[in-house]
Amino acid sequence: MTMDPILLGRDAELARLAALPPSGLLVVTGDRGCGKSALLSAAARQAAGSGRRVITGHGAETAALWPLPLLLALRDDLAAAPPAVSGPAMTFLGLAPGGPPPAHDRINTIVGTVVAAAARHRPITIVVDDACHLSA
Ligand SMILES: Nc1ncnc2c1ncn2[C@@H]1O[C@H](COP(=O)(O)OP(=O)(O)OP(=O)(O)O)[C@@H](O)[C@H]1O
Ligand SMILES: [Mg+2]
Repeated sequence: MTMDPILLGRDAELARLAALPPSGLLVVTGDRGCGKSALLSAAARQAAGSGRRVITGHGAETAALWPLPLLLALRDDLAAAPPAVSGPAMTFLGLAPGGPPPAHDRINTIVGTVVAAAARHRPITIVVDDACHLSA
């Protein structure tokens, strides 16, 4: 059994995160080593504990591939997306034969549509640590 790390003095921040509206974007900033990653990890656990589906990523690891890991995490939900989106998404993931993969600037729209479709069934929290490394 693994124990969750102890997070000291962040009850107010976690309460704020729990009270966020169901849809939106939150950026956590702070000095190096101030506890951003620790807070994000706790927030991810908190979101999962409240029944949300949590998808995590790390900017430094996935920068070159983003948003492939996010779309991969949602591959079972592609069927719920409109065909105009699920088709190119499957091609992008290499899961279906087809024409050329969608243009880069279309990928974000595709991913956003897939996320929205999946979130209708269960709210999704996407946590990306060090997202500043992502270029997309
Ligand atoms: N509130 C806290 N309670 C207990 N330990 C903490 C807390 N905040 C941070 N730490 C610990 O301090 C160390 C640094 O925290 P963390 O890695 O989260 O900082 P960071 O802001 O993400 O750093 P960086 O800017 O390098 O990404 C880690 O070992 C973490 O577990
Ligand atoms: Mg960090």
